[in-house]
Amino acid sequence: MEKLDGCTTPAVGAGLDSEQQRPVDAQFLEDVLCGLAADSKYLHCKYLYDQRGSKLFDMICELDEYYPTRVERQLTSQFAGEIGRCIGPGVVLVEYGSGSSTKTRVLLDHLSTPNAYLPVDISEDHLLDAARALQTEYPELDICPVVADFSGEFDLPARYADDRRCIYFPGSTIGNLEPAEAVLLLERIAWQVGTSGGLLVGFDLQKSVDVLELAYNDEAGVTAEFNLNLLQRINRELDGNFDLDQFAHVAYYNTNEHRIEIYIESLTEQTAQVAGESIPFSAGERICTEYSHKYTLDGFAELADQAGWVRKQSWTDADQYFGLMYLSVE
Ligand code: AVI
Repeated sequence: MEKLDGCTTPAVGAGLDSEQQRPVDAQFLEDVLCGLAADSKYLHCKYLYDQRGSKLFDMICELDEYYPTRVERQLTSQFAGEIGRCIGPGVVLVEYGSGSSTKTRVLLDHLSTPNAYLPVDISEDHLLDAARALQTEYPELDICPVVADFSGEFDLPARYADDRRCIYFPGSTIGNLEPAEAVLLLERIAWQVGTSGGLLVGFDLQKSVDVLELAYNDEAGVTAEFNLNLLQRINRELDGNFDLDQFAHVAYYNTNEHRIEIYIESLTEQTAQVAGESIPFSAGERICTEYSHKYTLDGFAELADQAGWVRKQSWTDADQYFGLMYLSVE
């Protein structure tokens, strides 16, 4: 336990915007007003994940229609031996957006003498709880939680500077970035791991439109609740007055851009207030809340290549629903 408490890095990005070091509320307000004043209204998808949003997302991951979590879990278990051999011995495994570190256990079980495990997450309480639980299961392993927003720049603890590093980035979160942003993140990861470093990344694959659209329009309406929760969050935290009954969840696959696009649609002409500002909506007008890009294995390797990564091995399921890829910087 001492190990854990002693090595949490300063709270880069925790509760603060990592670049500006300003309270999140002010940043949230600014981003919301800016996004809702745009000609095509938008809200950044990171704001979907307040406490309720995170719980709803956990529920999404268990839905029959939402295959990515299930298939990635299966793939990781099925190929854990091969993946462990690719990553190699004596590595420092750094997990981006580690949450509860649920997928990590099977990976750790198949790594040969890892030097350390560094879970990285913005949610400090959750991160420390998860790290403590993992430490009791892996008493010999050096576990060092890092509170940081991995979408911005952050430092890893200096004492691991000389170790070979592998970033583990599961969950297809990379798909929520525009391809150009994904390349920038992949470049930052390459810089963070340095020469001979590795990356194990999970991403969602292109498939039938029906399967994709069902995954984001589940019958129980959990995804709709998750999406509309953003308006509730604005009502609660930014003194908004969105009438939730006058907005609807919309999600569809854009076949040209190979991405699911998620919107909140205004059902009538109306004006909402946020922190004293009027936000007018025409009937049918939409706020874009999230993109979820779908790749091919080769397409993802090409994207990663632009950031200096070389594909070493990839794994997919029989239906080719989901991809896991191990890449290295040479
Ligand atoms: C977090 N991310 C990978 C999810 C996805 O599938 O793009 C977010 C999500 N949004 C609605 N359902 C799931």
